[in-house]
Amino acid sequence: MERIQKIIASSGYTSRRKAEELIKQGKVHVNGKKIDELGYKVSNNDIITINGEVINQNNKCFYYYLLNKPRGVISSTKDEKNRKTVVDLIDTKERIYPVGRLDYDTTGLIILTNDGNLSNILTHPSNKIEKTYLAKVTGLFKVSDLKVMEKGINIDGFKSSPCKVKIKSYDKKSNSSKVEITIHEGKNHQVKKMFNSLGYDVLKLKREKYAFLTLEGLKSGEYRNLTLKEVKILYSLAHKKKES
Ligand code: URA
Repeated sequence: MERIQKIIASSGYTSRRKAEELIKQGKVHVNGKKIDELGYKVSNNDIITINGEVINQNNKCFYYYLLNKPRGVISSTKDEKNRKTVVDLIDTKERIYPVGRLDYDTTGLIILTNDGNLSNILTHPSNKIEKTYLAKVTGLFKVSDLKVMEKGINIDGFKSSPCKVKIKSYDKKSNSSKVEITIHEGKNHQVKKMFNSLGYDVLKLKREKYAFLTLEGLKSGEYRNLTLKEVKILYSLAHKKKES
């Protein structure tokens, strides 16, 4: 017996958080009976439906993609304004969704999958998965600001955790700098807000690394499947961090 939101997430239908929302909205039925209790436990033999659609508990066929997201694409499965989504860029009929988010104008590495368990592990703050971004910012980024940023700064009443920051280059002509930043948190617009709080605007932002994964060999808009080995390492990284 498992909690229903966990079963829904592992089926690949949606994330655990969204499953909880669907339960609260009364859209989930077990063996025809509406469920509104988050801790409700189900077995393999129970028939779960969401909005009338049967959740395939035994569908253990998972798909994993690594996409180099272009600018002007939304990190979601659908958009009410009909803008292009990251899922539209992947040629599959499977119901996949992005792991975490990149802003509409942010480019770079994003994972898409129908494996709810892996998605939960990767996005859970306690697993501290490192993400490296290259930011082009206005002005000449000061070493003193680098030190402040590395220690952690206040943004929207939250103090960012210590992170790694490197100045990659200065462009005196356009009065801008390229700065690499590695964080393990994932608050909304976190990197932009960190630079903004020190007086720099982010002109471009690209995620270049996610844990050990890079964009090697992928042009903007291109994607590839993760290998089984990579998926296993992602799972094991998360578990190691959880135990420590
Ligand atoms: N931080 C941001 O500000 N934007 C992103 O897209 C990702 C991290």
